[in-house]
Amino acid sequence: FAEILPEAQLHFWKEGETLANSEPADYAVVWRPPMAMLQGRTDVRAVFNLGAGVDALLKFGDALPQVPIVRLDDAGMGVQMAEFAAHAVLRYYRRFDDYEEQARNAQWQVLKPYDKENFSVGILGLGVLGRRIAQALQHFDFPIRGWSHTMKDVPGVTCFAGKDGLEEFLRGTRVLICVLPLTSETSNMLGRTNLSKLMEGAYLINVARGAHLAEPDLLALIKSGHIAGATLDVFRNEPLPKQHPFWHEPRIRITPHIAALTLYNESIRQIASKIDALERGQPIHGVVDRARGY
Ligand code: NAP
Ligand code: GLV
Repeated sequence: FAEILPEAQLHFWKEGETLANSEPADYAVVWRPPMAMLQGRTDVRAVFNLGAGVDALLKFGDALPQVPIVRLDDAGMGVQMAEFAAHAVLRYYRRFDDYEEQARNAQWQVLKPYDKENFSVGILGLGVLGRRIAQALQHFDFPIRGWSHTMKDVPGVTCFAGKDGLEEFLRGTRVLICVLPLTSETSNMLGRTNLSKLMEGAYLINVARGAHLAEPDLLALIKSGHIAGATLDVFRNEPLPKQHPFWHEPRIRITPHIAALTLYNESIRQIASKIDALERGQPIHGVVDRARGY
């Protein structure tokens, strides 16, 4: 920020500071801040979130200043999500997970390839990141479907929307990728009822938030064989506790919330250009709709 906005005065908020003893600021740049940093502030004109998901901010409700909350808009996360999703989908489709298992047992055996027509990929959330995932997977000719709140028209993607469209979307999905924001409507939606509607031998990739997933339901569906495997990047409790059963389930692959990292250069450039636009009275993208929750 010092390089890109040389005229700005930068203050670091420190643990223990309150409204009464902290420096005034025109803009706040935050990631999962404690409430004390923002509560009651009347000085800030916008709050910039150093990530795409704003669930950790919006949970403060009316304690947040009544100013625009601005999420990161791609800022280099789209391509990372595409890489992560493509890696996981290809690993399942090409049966690399099964070949890894065979190799651990020094077993040489060619497995029957899956039929691509029946290996449809369903993306929950067709926003900035979901669309980028869809675009990447199209290169591998997977049938792609997507679900969003409002109906979309994305070339090459069979689109579904709203509660009415969810069941049909799920019933035709073999690999489910969740890239939804966490809101009161989407919390816990990856539970037994919805996951059971997926095609037999389905796979789950959750790169959204841990609270989307009912963890015991996933374990039960993996044990029953309805779900063949899961790639999970996000968890209810992060870091995932050492004693958590997910660590001991070989059909669950775990990464430590790295599907799309906040890249400092891209993010700072994006925020700085938005501050510049706001200073000039111009509109900006990425302002969160608080009522909607994203
Ligand atoms: P976004 O652009 O706001 O897109 C959100 C999508 O979800 C939109 O298509 C929206 O539908 C849909 N949606 C929201 N609520 C819905 C509902 N109740 N029913 C159906 N569809 C609903 O968000 P984004 O930038 O793609 O980011 C998505 C999420 O990814 C973030 O909120 C964050 O939780 C997660 N994330 C994770 C990582 C990681 O490293 N694991 C990194 C970055 C982000 P409409 O388009 O119709 O509104
Ligand atoms: C990371 O999880 C983000 O929301 O950007």
